[in-house]
Amino acid sequence: MSHYAIADDGPALLAFYRSERFRRFLGRLVRADLQLCPDEDPHACALYFYTEAGDHMGYHYDTSHYKGARYTVLIGLVQDSSSRLLCRLYTHRPGQAPVEMAMATEPGSMVIFNGDKVYHGVSPSREGERRVVFTMEYVTSREMGRVQRLFSNLKDAFAYFGIRALWRGRGRGARATA
Ligand SMILES: [Fe+2]
Repeated sequence: MSHYAIADDGPALLAFYRSERFRRFLGRLVRADLQLCPDEDPHACALYFYTEAGDHMGYHYDTSHYKGARYTVLIGLVQDSSSRLLCRLYTHRPGQAPVEMAMATEPGSMVIFNGDKVYHGVSPSREGERRVVFTMEYVTSREMGRVQRLFSNLKDAFAYFGIRALWRGRGRGARATA
């Protein structure tokens, strides 16, 4: 469920994402000046449901299309599931063997990482299981190049949230610049 849906129907989640106090706390944690993603970014905050057998996410980086770093924050909401957040650490460190981690994101637990640096995925859920995670993205710069912005919006909106989010995102972007 994308940022657009949350903006329409999830005022508490949106307020949490936008909380200045929480953002300052995160900034102290990672020692960076964190900012909200622009409104047209479908990933700014989102809900992920792993409720069907086989629901998973392949390993990836949350690559920043912005000029600075992008930090991902995960808040566990439901973890009635064998599905785990998988992280492979130190993939960019020459000479160091990667370290694998598998984490249950229990309700109220928080994970934060630099999306360009931590290779991660989600292991498949089984029949009858339920895992729900609220994710938030914070950036150190809200600027991105025009080409990166177009590519990012097309790829992300379609891959994660379906074609409807893509069109809604374009509409919002047009309104924001009008
Ligand atoms: Fe990710």
